[in-house]
Amino acid sequence: MKEIISVELKAQPCGFSECETDLLVVGQFSDANLLRQVRPLRRSASEASSTARKSDVVSSELDGKLGGAIERLVKLGDFKGKAGNCAVLYGDGRIGAKRVLLIGLGEEKKATLDTVRKAAAQAANKAAAMKVKDVALTLHKPFEKRFDLAKIAHVIAEGAYYGSYSYDEYVTESENGRPSVLEIKLIDPDSERVKKLEKGISSGIIIGRIQSYARTLANRPANVISPAKLAEEAQKVAKSTKGISCTVFDEKQMADMGMGGVLAVGSGSQNRPRFIVLKYAATKEAPAIALVGKAITFDSGGISIKPSANMEQMKLDKSGGIAVLSTIKAVAELGLPLNIYGIIPAAENLPSGSSYRPGDIITTFSGKTVEVQNTDAEGRMILCDAISYAVKQKCEIIIDIATLTGACMVALGQYMAGLMGNDEKLIKQLQAAAEESGEKVWPLPCSEEYAKEMKSKIADLKNVGSKWGGACTGAAFLLQFAGETKWAHLDIAGVDMIEKPTEFSAEGASGFGVRLLTTYLMNIGKGKK
Ligand code: BES
Ligand code: MN
Ligand code: ZN
Repeated sequence: MKEIISVELKAQPCGFSECETDLLVVGQFSDANLLRQVRPLRRSASEASSTARKSDVVSSELDGKLGGAIERLVKLGDFKGKAGNCAVLYGDGRIGAKRVLLIGLGEEKKATLDTVRKAAAQAANKAAAMKVKDVALTLHKPFEKRFDLAKIAHVIAEGAYYGSYSYDEYVTESENGRPSVLEIKLIDPDSERVKKLEKGISSGIIIGRIQSYARTLANRPANVISPAKLAEEAQKVAKSTKGISCTVFDEKQMADMGMGGVLAVGSGSQNRPRFIVLKYAATKEAPAIALVGKAITFDSGGISIKPSANMEQMKLDKSGGIAVLSTIKAVAELGLPLNIYGIIPAAENLPSGSSYRPGDIITTFSGKTVEVQNTDAEGRMILCDAISYAVKQKCEIIIDIATLTGACMVALGQYMAGLMGNDEKLIKQLQAAAEESGEKVWPLPCSEEYAKEMKSKIADLKNVGSKWGGACTGAAFLLQFAGETKWAHLDIAGVDMIEKPTEFSAEGASGFGVRLLTTYLMNIGKGKK
């Protein structure tokens, strides 16, 4: 695959003002001393600047060399250090760097590792937009007392990939294309600290690079990625990554197996459905964990067709499946001591003479029958077969991830995924991983009341509930197939897409789930409760 921007990241010993680079990135808290110094304080200027020199190592060193340029910028009110703030200064031969990019970090006491990740993302986003070739980051510096340096380097790497990403593989006439390679180094004059940074940077690079891969796959349109093409991609990943194997079932095999759900949804398209099973088994000791991802390569709604406004966004309805494929790749590259299945039912939901219809009764892989009341509730029709498959493989834990309901988007907006499940411990572990990875989740119920709505009079289940609580009834439907197996469901409708570009990211697919699931699995691998 053509890499959109290939990012090269490393840690390197180098002094801040000596470092020769196109862009030197400096983080600044809004309540740091350098800023306080230029506010009217009842102390002498010399006193104030000596305090600043002690605490804001990088910016005071640079400010000295730049003849007070940073201070003047702050005095003018052009940079306040608030989160999202940034400003550019020029080195003019006074320091090694051609430019200095100040990044606001917000209030120091509110800082988390996600603050660091976002600052790196903003810096990389800006660097790509400015078309610079190499960037030197000093972003670890303001945080080194609060967090472990290796952890800091890990999130900086993730953020650097995230921020510099953009999807332009089909743009042939761009005059202002981004650079093809962005070299990013984490610099520090102290070689011991550089060693610590190096420790965390490699895992961050793996996750960052693979999240960009996920975004590209998701951004590719439905005429490029069909279920069969996605299956080929999964096989490619298995071939090129040590420890992963992949089996793809075509529709004949699915028919033999009785996968009525996937077949029904895929029946309307000439692009035939596939059932993709990836396996990463590094150990026999660990219990099998199944990651199940919805991969609808395009969701038109089928016979219950969607309104045409924004329908093009439904190419992203494969994001859950892609998150699973990418997470398995990340876990294998990280070499985690785990035993994981990646189960990806893939189909295209189109209206045609061969489509499944409202009113149809489908026999699913589990044997349970489902009355179709709306062909647009297709995600649960393919996921139920995949969850049953995971149960049949005796997986002890099942986590599914899916752009399942518009209702989840109504409930939580575009910042958090809905989290449902039948096991308190699993939910807590996913919440912890969400906190750590910066891919946020919020718990929603899927209890008996919701499950009751999914009962049909003429079959075991129906595929839609009442008008209300659509995210919860959707999850309650899936729960019927998990049975007693520990199960959690991530509804990523809303968070799968970045609608408008932000200071941290380009628009389009977000790659949501790659960091969250990989972090969860890294924690399990470490034996974290
Ligand atoms: N893929 C959609 C959900 C979706 C909507 C994802 C908006 C991202 C943005 C899903 O297949 C769907 O159409 N769900 C229906 C379910 C309903 C018919 C019960 C929905 O949410 O309207
Ligand atoms: Mn749909
Ligand atoms: Zn869908």
